[in-house]
Amino acid sequence: MPRAVKKLFVKTYGCQMNQYDSDRLFEVMGEIGFESTDEMAQADVVVLNTCHIREKAAEKVYSDLGRIKLIRNKRLQNGEETTVVVAGCVAQAEGREILARAPIVNIVIGPQSYHRLPDYIFSAEQHKQRIVDTDFPTDLKFEHLPGRSIKKLTAFITVQEGCDKFCTFCVVPYTRGGEYSRPVKEIVKETIELARHGTKEITLLGQNVNAYHGANKKGQPVSLARLIKKVAKVEGLERIRYTTSHPNDMSDDLIEAHKEIEKLMPYLHLPFQSGSDKILKAMNRDHKIDKYREILERVREARPDIALSTDIIVGFPGETDQDFEDTMQLVRDIKYAQAYSFTYSPRPGTTAALMEDQVEKHVASERLQRLQTLLKEQQLEFNRAQIGKKLPILLEKRGREPGQLVGRSPYLQLVHVIAPDEMMGRIVEVEIVDTTRNSLAGELKKAQNKELV
Ligand code: SAH
Ligand code: SF4
Ligand code: F3S
Repeated sequence: MPRAVKKLFVKTYGCQMNQYDSDRLFEVMGEIGFESTDEMAQADVVVLNTCHIREKAAEKVYSDLGRIKLIRNKRLQNGEETTVVVAGCVAQAEGREILARAPIVNIVIGPQSYHRLPDYIFSAEQHKQRIVDTDFPTDLKFEHLPGRSIKKLTAFITVQEGCDKFCTFCVVPYTRGGEYSRPVKEIVKETIELARHGTKEITLLGQNVNAYHGANKKGQPVSLARLIKKVAKVEGLERIRYTTSHPNDMSDDLIEAHKEIEKLMPYLHLPFQSGSDKILKAMNRDHKIDKYREILERVREARPDIALSTDIIVGFPGETDQDFEDTMQLVRDIKYAQAYSFTYSPRPGTTAALMEDQVEKHVASERLQRLQTLLKEQQLEFNRAQIGKKLPILLEKRGREPGQLVGRSPYLQLVHVIAPDEMMGRIVEVEIVDTTRNSLAGELKKAQNKELV
């Protein structure tokens, strides 16, 4: 009797780079005949693609493993085996410890090694081996990954990975390794493949994406702005975004690109972490707040309607009420379209975890609450300002209500609209009629079954 197709379930935690890695994992496993499933109980292989950035994210993995154990045991009663894989940044940081703490785990694999997963699955299944691979291999995973075959209207492409900046709170340099930029040719090829499968929008990813300096054919370094220009030429691709940027790498040509390149969306995610120069120094961020303000002024000059986003940490060691007020003031002055904010989480192996003047948890939580109240008001204000405007919306998926499609505005806001199913995947003009903090409601212009693209 022919063996049923094997099924793969992946749960992705953490950042967009992990989402990209999960997409690639489906492609790698697709090559050896695996199909994806959304039902963990149906899966022969369960992968947790994990995040180590804050304690909560890392600990979540172990509670999930507890649940997987129950499912795996149930499957065993039916004679079905389950291979359990911990991938991603917790895998990289904790390695072998995971095998000791969670006996059901078969394979632990870091973010630079997942192209080898098919071999490891074979060894785990056939020889009942438990495997740990957390090397930063010299053979780059990108050279071993298959072509892009995933069908997604919006997709990620990692163009730069790792980090050499060593902010004192951050695990990324340890979990992802040193900074590496992929060659231009590889990225253009990936974009073409995705566009052929229907991708309309790509987001170029990097831990410090604007530090990108990948080589062209002649081996010369190319900036992110020039890479965006090249990618913008790919036929079928309509929209380009990039994230995450670092203030120190915000070059003039990237700012200009927001004026010049039509496909580049008016959105910039530029984390500042703290509004206090003293705290920035302790964080090893290596820039001052005045410089950050000046960058944003220039960005707004180049593209007045740009939506700004940021990351903020509150309660970093040594943060006083005044330091926090400086953060609040900066937010009041800039006015963000949206933002991510967190209380500081001490991470093993980082310098800040050893600093003496740790802020008490309840103080940090209270500050975070005040900050988030302000950010929510700003987000709502930004969304309200869109009411009455006609915006081009890329319709990406079905909404919860019958006949509803959901898409994104150029400013990355979710927009709900009643529209025929055939409009899926198109960019259509929508009049914004209402808003909540998290999304907009729009109406198709009557005469406009006209397609913008
Ligand atoms: N490379 C990006 C950020 C990557 S990590 C940059 O330099 O801005 C994503 C976000 O997680 C960070 O911007 C920071 O706000 C948050 N973060 C990182 N480490 C953290 C920690 N130890 N505690 C709380 N938040 C943290
Ligand atoms: Fe982490 Fe800093 Fe590197 Fe960003 S720049 S990934 S916060 S070390
Ligand atoms: Fe988390 Fe690793 Fe991304 S630690 S934020 S998944 S780079």
